[in-house]
Amino acid sequence: MRTVFLETYGCQMNVADSELMAGVLERAGMSLVDRPEDADALILNTCAIREHAEQRVIGRIGDFARYKQRNPAVVIGVAGCMAQHLRKKLLDGRRSLDLVVGPDGYRDLPRLLQRAAGEPVAQVRLDRDETYGDLEPRREPGVRAWVTVQRGCDKFCTYCVVPFTRGRERSLPLADLVRQVRTAADQGFREIVFLGQTVNSYHDGTHDFADLLRATDAVEGVTRIRYTSPHPSDMSVRVIDAMSTCAKVMPHVHLPLQSGSDPILSAMNRTYTTGEFRDVAERIRRAIPGVALTTDIIVGFPGETEQDFEATAALMREIRFESAFLFKYSARPDTRAFTWPETVSEEAKGHRLSQLIELQHQISGEVHDAMVGRDVEVLVEGPSRRGGEEREPQLHGKTPQFKTVVFRDDGTPAGALRRVRIVGATPVTLFGESLAQPTPAPLVTIAG
Ligand code: 5AD
Ligand code: SF4
Repeated sequence: MRTVFLETYGCQMNVADSELMAGVLERAGMSLVDRPEDADALILNTCAIREHAEQRVIGRIGDFARYKQRNPAVVIGVAGCMAQHLRKKLLDGRRSLDLVVGPDGYRDLPRLLQRAAGEPVAQVRLDRDETYGDLEPRREPGVRAWVTVQRGCDKFCTYCVVPFTRGRERSLPLADLVRQVRTAADQGFREIVFLGQTVNSYHDGTHDFADLLRATDAVEGVTRIRYTSPHPSDMSVRVIDAMSTCAKVMPHVHLPLQSGSDPILSAMNRTYTTGEFRDVAERIRRAIPGVALTTDIIVGFPGETEQDFEATAALMREIRFESAFLFKYSARPDTRAFTWPETVSEEAKGHRLSQLIELQHQISGEVHDAMVGRDVEVLVEGPSRRGGEEREPQLHGKTPQFKTVVFRDDGTPAGALRRVRIVGATPVTLFGESLAQPTPAPLVTIAG
């Protein structure tokens, strides 16, 4: 077993887990390849958050089964949340599948792959101590390094499968994280994004999330620090204070609201009321000038009435999130809500979703239009796909608020900061003009 093709679905935690797997595989002497036809093993790192995510993976397993028909020696593995979620069912149901490995089984991946070449293997034991803190990931090159600071979730929102697929919450030791951040900075990464299911409940026994932000703020070579996703109930005074005082921690909080109706929030087991959410949002906005708030919202949760839905839309209008990920509720086996009758038809869910998409589009458009004429600092990420051959080459990067800006290529290298004046906007993208100063001519003293 020499070569592995690894494909990732789902959230950033999965992207980071794939980088972790890549590190484990490479240290075991295996190499990652870009094309499935070049690989001895094909691994899908999967997501179980909504049914749609699982269906996409099932389709992909079918594609991989065709490679196996051509080359029966090839090992096919499913990793991640869906592996954990469907466990034995996956192995029993599909003869083409050789390996099922859950989120706590990656340390052993090389050995599991070797075994799976002989017989089907399942490693789906959740381990409440596994953090992979000591393992160096093989990061995809770029400006941004994803650093997992916490794994699992203890919140048990009634719609969510994550506590069942990723197990109990555990944090990596602060010293391991500071080491990872230093290594990433030395490798040339300029932006660090801390990841965790409820990232701000980070606690390693001694240090909390505010300590982690402060410790990272002091690491030389790091330009920007971000994190996702915090839980509103864990947005402590200490964390807000650290955000407002650490120069490198960017003014953006992705704060999942889920619903703007108190009875629905309660049924979701979200542990806050709309009043408390409003209060957190206000405290953040007061402490961090210019902060962007973004969110996640689910429509069509069991019991959501037209009034509940209207309350969500009203709260979105009131808070004016800069952007939002909007989802239709998807019943997930194992969760508490799975046992409750669905009261919102698929059609009504679709209608509610498109209403919120429209509303958010309007708000995002207004927020972006108000930025035209302002100057922002962009961390450049590289050439923009919008360039195209027929147009002048463009660069793209992010503002401190994590908004994408596209501007004419002025030679700024990836990883550098550039001041840009915003000259145009859509609800998703800002367009700018570089304010690069021409290099000043050297001062020459003329004698005489
Ligand atoms: N159905 C729809 N959306 C969900 N999310 C989590 N579970 C479900 C589900 N069963 C959404 C939440 C969460 C985001 C990552 O996915 O909004 O914040
Ligand atoms: Fe799922 Fe809730 Fe945990 Fe987020 S906080 S991962 S929505 S259970």
